[in-house]
Amino acid sequence: MYHNQIKGFPKDFLWGASTSAYQVEGAFNEDGKGLSVQDVSKHPEGTTDFKVTSDFYHNYKEDIKLFSEMGFKAFRFSIAWTRILPNGIGEINEKGIKFYDNLIDELLSYGIEPIVTMYHFDLPVEIEKKGGWSRRETIDDFENYAKILFERFGDKINYWLTINEQNMMILHGSVLGITGDNGENPGKKAYQQNHHMLLAQAKAMKLCHNMCPKAKIGPAPNISCVYPATSKPEDALAASNFSSIRNWLYLDAAVFGRYNSIAWSYMEEKGCTPVIEEGDMDILKDAHPDFIAFNYYASATVAESIRDKTNDKSKVVVNVDQQASFEELGVVKGITNPNLEKNEFGWEIDPVGFRNTLRELNERYDLPLIVTENGLGAFDKLEDGDIVNDDYRIDFLRKHIEQGKLAINDGVKFFGYCPWSAIDLVSTHEGCSKRYGFVYVNRDEFDLKDLRRIKKKSFYWYKDVIKSNGNQL
Ligand code: BG6
Repeated sequence: MYHNQIKGFPKDFLWGASTSAYQVEGAFNEDGKGLSVQDVSKHPEGTTDFKVTSDFYHNYKEDIKLFSEMGFKAFRFSIAWTRILPNGIGEINEKGIKFYDNLIDELLSYGIEPIVTMYHFDLPVEIEKKGGWSRRETIDDFENYAKILFERFGDKINYWLTINEQNMMILHGSVLGITGDNGENPGKKAYQQNHHMLLAQAKAMKLCHNMCPKAKIGPAPNISCVYPATSKPEDALAASNFSSIRNWLYLDAAVFGRYNSIAWSYMEEKGCTPVIEEGDMDILKDAHPDFIAFNYYASATVAESIRDKTNDKSKVVVNVDQQASFEELGVVKGITNPNLEKNEFGWEIDPVGFRNTLRELNERYDLPLIVTENGLGAFDKLEDGDIVNDDYRIDFLRKHIEQGKLAINDGVKFFGYCPWSAIDLVSTHEGCSKRYGFVYVNRDEFDLKDLRRIKKKSFYWYKDVIKSNGNQL
């Protein structure tokens, strides 16, 4: 829809950027921190591990100063469960509490709003050893951890995010080094884990409202609008299947406290509905997010997948990827969208899809929306004189912000934008040469060099964007 007059971003719009603990902090075994599943996960050959990353743990003051120079109004980061509770439960590690207390105070001293993710892919190893999210007790462990966070940081935090990209953990488990179970019916295990995470999230949201009445809390899934490959009705059905399985299953449970009916029938068909105990649905119904945080990288395009009698062995797909090369017979088939360009890693680029996604979320849930990730991974080049000309990143972000601005005219209650990432960090599975930050960190895949911070061209550009409240793009 064309708008004659652009309303622009609200005055108090939360401009900022994001990171996650295990991808940026390093210091994986310092000051009493326990191991997380990420600290011990296997990495594809040629990519770095998460032991040092960008060493934010030792450089947070310098880094936050840079964020303030860019004019950040908000900074979205995650707390490592294993810094607070090295074994996932039990004794509190006061040094871990101190680190986040200092980090939060540092942000507040610059007037930067801390937006805290409680759990970003880094389950404590000690909990994983007992069965991780497959076991029901992990729900209580998470609630106990949440209680400590609200007790210790509740007076300073206005925005909490529960679980980062729960949907990607379920659909991408092995790529993220999390679930990775390729047994006979991986879907059965994954959807049981999903149910437990949904309950843990609901309990944390309720607890937050009881313990920190002024704070706001919401889920943080990865959401993409889904296009049918053609106007063929069967393709539209496939798009509806995929939207339900990829997006709405997670948000319908978080917002409405019920399972999405298409996703449920899919799980029934695959024999992987979760065991739901008495009272579970009441727990889901009883929790209400104040907003939805979501990560957006690209849209998805899908077509009908035909399952005939000769090819009846359809497994649940638990490895959907961004490169569209997935198919689940009789359900959906990923298609490359011929209208979209791709980045160096084969991820499609779709700024208009960003507006579509914002609109769809608004229509469906009618809640305020904040974007907690969006960005371009690229092989940046450090040139002589400490220059990084990342015009491609500026172009990517500019186009997305433009579309976000139009979505506000569309009526979307869009209140913050925190792209990925504030500073270079280690990608989930493609090492540290895949860079996302506004600030370059001088290190290679395995050579830590001097970890010097260098402002990229996008740093200066984003500074002007924030200063002009999104008017100067
Ligand atoms: C999101 C995650 O899925 O995408 C981040 O929340 C991740 O942790 C980001 O880094 C980009 O993905 P990748 O695989 O390029 O690191």
